[in-house]
Amino acid sequence: LTGIITIDPGYKNSGSCTSEITFLDGELGILRYRGYSIEDLAEKASFLEVSYLLIFGELPTAAELENFENGIKKHSLVNEEMKNIIDGFPKTAHPMGVLSALTSALTAFNPKAVNVDNEKEMYEAICKTMAKFLVIATWTYRKSMGYPLNYYDNTKGYVENFMQLMFQLPTGPYSANPVVVDALDKLFILHADHEQNCSTSTVRMVGSSHAGLFASISSGVSALWGPLHGGANQAVLEMLEEINKDGGDTDKFLAKAKDKNDPFRLMGFGHRVYKNFDPRAKIIKKAAKEVLETLGVEDPILDIARKLETAALEDEYFKSRNLYPNVDFYSGIIYRALGIPTDMFTVMFAIGRLPGWIAQWKEMRENKEPIGRPRQIYTGHPLREFKPNK
Ligand code: SDX
Repeated sequence: LTGIITIDPGYKNSGSCTSEITFLDGELGILRYRGYSIEDLAEKASFLEVSYLLIFGELPTAAELENFENGIKKHSLVNEEMKNIIDGFPKTAHPMGVLSALTSALTAFNPKAVNVDNEKEMYEAICKTMAKFLVIATWTYRKSMGYPLNYYDNTKGYVENFMQLMFQLPTGPYSANPVVVDALDKLFILHADHEQNCSTSTVRMVGSSHAGLFASISSGVSALWGPLHGGANQAVLEMLEEINKDGGDTDKFLAKAKDKNDPFRLMGFGHRVYKNFDPRAKIIKKAAKEVLETLGVEDPILDIARKLETAALEDEYFKSRNLYPNVDFYSGIIYRALGIPTDMFTVMFAIGRLPGWIAQWKEMRENKEPIGRPRQIYTGHPLREFKPNK
């Protein structure tokens, strides 16, 4: 081995790149996109404005935002032949698996690899990705329900389109509740980027081989699916429902989470970087209360979540390990109140994280980062002579 190889499982103490996109401070619980605080952006900007900021580095002017929206509308049609692919899946297929497959399949219908040196081509590819990903993400739900697939409505905004793509039925007109659209817009902003998390690092790694943008995003979807990462928002709801079914005994589940012989973990708690409250969890917790009150939704699960959070925050095991609620702890409660089915929660995370993945992929390519190829320390057999194993 030339030089010293240090092994850093899970890259807990390794940096993979420099980046100008997102700043996190895990001790202070700070999150900023391109220097703007997440609190300001969640309060004052729209998801498309934040997407533009992450990808292009500055908040868009009114003209730039209109141009971005028009670019998305221009590419909002998904090739009809993509329906043959989605028809090949059973209804029971998990939406994240379908989404990853369909995202990769987009390359087949948009074969022109993205030439990162051509600004106009890059811009078109970004608009294409923002538009088509949203449509196919909702197709995973429609397919699971046996409903006809909807088309992007160029008279509506991006987040409003998500709702009509998901819930518009041929049986009658559909108009999204503005409270729901506003809550989703905020949730997508809160999920939009998070520096070098597992799925973003995956997008960068795959993109570093100069695989196309769709293929790189597809790999990010697969990484996000895991219950330790984006899949946690679905796992939180399943955990809260189990506690509720079990009579609401949160102490019993806290004890399970602390038992080293029990693989059960408190889903939605803990974070690789935040050793303080996840700033996004604070905003989502407040939004959950507001949305449920505004929609008049009484959800016992919200009470269970609050009880579990209080108990965990007072518990020595969790305190000593700096385990706090993360972005996934409360988000599922809002999605449920908005009528989003549980197995679509991680797809919601993917829709929010898409502009972050695009921004990071673009930065990695523009910085001409080398292909990712870490080393290892070999611990297998020494040289041995081949003897047929008869
Ligand atoms: C996301 O990286 C990102 O930025 C991700 C994300 C993003 O926006 O992209 O923020 C989104 O993925 C949020 C995390 C969602 N995952 C979950 O909620 C799943 C539950 N959480 C854990 O699995 C865990 O906290 C991780 C995966 C989030 C972080 O794991 P680490 O950093 O590898 O920490 P660890 O597994 O080494 O845990 C340290 C200690 C261990 O105990 P000891 O060995 O020291 O005795 O804390 C314990 C762990 O057993 N621990 C937990 C726990 N999380 C950590 N114990 C019980 N329940 C938990 N949730």
